[in-house]
Amino acid sequence: MAPLLEISNLSVRFHSDKAEVFAVNGLDLSLDTGKAIAIVGESGSGKSTVMMAVMRLLQSNASITGQVKLDGTDVLQLPEKAMRRLRGKEMAMVFQNAGSSMNPTKTIGDQMIEPMLFHHMASARDARQVAVKLLHQVGIPDPEERLNNYPFEFSGGQLQRVMIAMALIADPKLLIADEPTTALDVTVQAEVLILLKKLQRERGMGLVFVTHDLAVAAQVADDIYVMYGGFVMERIAASELTTHLVHPYLRGLVQSIPKIDGPRTELPYIPGQPISITGGLPDGCVFASRCDKRFVKCHERPRHISISQQHSVSCWLAEGGVEQA
Ligand SMILES: Nc1ncnc2c1ncn2[C@@H]1O[C@H](COP(=O)(O)OP(=O)(O)O)[C@@H](O)[C@H]1O
Ligand SMILES: [Mg+2]
Repeated sequence: MAPLLEISNLSVRFHSDKAEVFAVNGLDLSLDTGKAIAIVGESGSGKSTVMMAVMRLLQSNASITGQVKLDGTDVLQLPEKAMRRLRGKEMAMVFQNAGSSMNPTKTIGDQMIEPMLFHHMASARDARQVAVKLLHQVGIPDPEERLNNYPFEFSGGQLQRVMIAMALIADPKLLIADEPTTALDVTVQAEVLILLKKLQRERGMGLVFVTHDLAVAAQVADDIYVMYGGFVMERIAASELTTHLVHPYLRGLVQSIPKIDGPRTELPYIPGQPISITGGLPDGCVFASRCDKRFVKCHERPRHISISQQHSVSCWLAEGGVEQA
């Protein structure tokens, strides 16, 4: 069966007066129906850009090449009108700050019911019932009454749940969640993660979960894509994360996952600054400047090679390179 989402050789550059930003560089990604993948990387590694390209929501200073197939249709080639139908209906997105993407002057009920009426998905009475059911599914108590509340009357965690309910209105095949729990405290974050995972399983949706937190990624996803400088460094099954890693970047990230009882840290404890992708890319591996395993070959850009069906990597070590002591 063809993948639900198949991204091939996607590149995105942003143009500005000053310089070009090489935000995404030849990215391949594949997600099957009913599976979850996580895209992990430091801030600025290009995660949101990939997802905004999938939703075709990038700003006009972006130039995009490659293919983004949803159920076999290249969304990059669709006219905007067809794209509007696809957004929300076939694929929906949940963002980091639920509050800022909602209308503060309208009740949650109105904000959930209006799109259903607009798309002729339900009668007014049915739409209200659908909204109640969805709020119940995402764990909002007293959903009937809560429909009459405004966004400011919800806590951060509840608002994130409401936003997930909104994303599910049209029963999308693909749900994209871009750092949906980053602004929440750890306990609430864990609850929202469990909810997303549960909904994904129950509905058989494809889920793309974007995060800077590798530990979170491992909890949610079947497959993990690690990005650095706009490239996928390694793609690996979550179950093999601690045993089969190749890329020194990812190994560093795994080592920096905090112990359960230790202090919580953000990505990463790898020395050095993220590569600048403004103005051009280095000739060699983008991670070389921070890599403690680099050797002569790393002056050339590594290919992304397959190690097994679920495992691929961009690193010369995978091609028989010799580690430096
Ligand atoms: N509209 C834009 N114009 C110029 N540069 C942008 C724009 N949007 C994002 N970028 C740049 O693209 C790179 C990747 O950004 P982003 O995809 O948001 O990273 P992430 O989500 O991993 O933090 C960053 O260097 C960011 O500054
Ligand atoms: Mg982002």
